[in-house]
Amino acid sequence: MRSIAIINQKGGVGKTTTAVNLSAALAEQGQRVCLIDLDPQAHASLHLGVALGNDRQSVYQVLTGDTLLADVRVAIEDNLWLVPSQLDLAAAEMELAGEVGREVILRDKLDLEHEPYDYLIIDCPPSLGVLTLNALTAVNEVFLPLQPHFLALHGFGKLLRTIQVVAQRLNPGLRLSGVMLCMYESGTRLAAEVTTDVAGFFERQKAQRTAWAEAKNYQTRIRRNIRLAEAPSFGQSIFHYAPDSNGARDYRQLAREVLGLPLEPLQANEQPELVPCP
Ligand SMILES: Nc1ncnc2c1ncn2[C@@H]1O[C@H](COP(=O)(O)OP(=O)(O)O)[C@@H](O)[C@H]1O
Ligand SMILES: [Mg+2]
Repeated sequence: MRSIAIINQKGGVGKTTTAVNLSAALAEQGQRVCLIDLDPQAHASLHLGVALGNDRQSVYQVLTGDTLLADVRVAIEDNLWLVPSQLDLAAAEMELAGEVGREVILRDKLDLEHEPYDYLIIDCPPSLGVLTLNALTAVNEVFLPLQPHFLALHGFGKLLRTIQVVAQRLNPGLRLSGVMLCMYESGTRLAAEVTTDVAGFFERQKAQRTAWAEAKNYQTRIRRNIRLAEAPSFGQSIFHYAPDSNGARDYRQLAREVLGLPLEPLQANEQPELVPCP
C-alpha cells in the first residue's frame, strides 16, 4: 500500500481539491483508496457529499477515544472510502496537547485496520500542528501541492524541516515524493517562472541526503478550471460533476503519473508548456 499525506501549511493551494480528485481518479483506475479527512474544516468530506451532524462520529473520536477507523469509515463509491472530519476536530489539537505519544495516534489506529487498500491518502489542515504530525508519522510519502504564485516557496524551509525532523525522530521511511502545480495559469510568465524555480530547487537537492532528495516534479499541471471550484458545492468529485472538463482530464492524467502509467496524448488544442531546464 502507498500512503500519502497531502501537505502545505498554506491554505488555498489545492490540497483538498487534489486529495479528493486524485483519490477519485485512482479509484476510477481500479485502485482501492481510503481518503482520511484530517482538516477540522471538513472540506474533503463536504466535497464528497458527507456532512456530519453532531450525532455522527468522525476522525475526531478516532484520535481522542477508542473509536476505530472502521467505525467511522463511509463507502463513497466503488473502490473509494472516506474517513470524515467535522469541526470538533479543531479541539483535538488542545485536547491532545498533554498526551504522551500524541503524534502517533493515527499510525496506531491504522495498524488496527485490516481493509486492504492500495492507496491511503490524507488531506491535511493548513498548519504544521499535531494533526499534520499525526499524518506525517502515519504515511510513507508526502505530496506537496503548490500554487504558482510569487510566494510559492515562501515558508517552504519550515515545511521541509518538519518533514526532516519527523523522518529523523518518528518515521524513518518518510519522504517528500511528489510536487504538483495546482491552479496553473497556462501561458503566463509567472507560472512558467515559478515552475522553473521549483524544478531548479529540487534539482539542486538531488545530491543531498534529505527526505526530499528524490522528490518528483509531476509533469501534469492542474490548470485553473472553474468546474473544479464548483464541484464541492454539489458534493461530488470532478468525475461525477464534470467528467469531460479540463479539471477531470488533469486529475486523471495526474493519477496516471502517480501510478506510473504512460500519459494520455495532449489534445489538439493543448500545447506543452515550454519550461527551460534549470
Ligand atoms: N485547479 C483549480 N481551478 C480552480 N479552482 C480551484 C482549483 N483547485 C482548487 N480550486 C479552488 O480553490 C479553493 C482552494 O482550494 P483547496 O483545494 O480547498 O485548497 P486547500 O485545501 O489547500 O486550502 C477552493 O475553492 C477550490 O475549489
Ligand atoms: Mg483544504
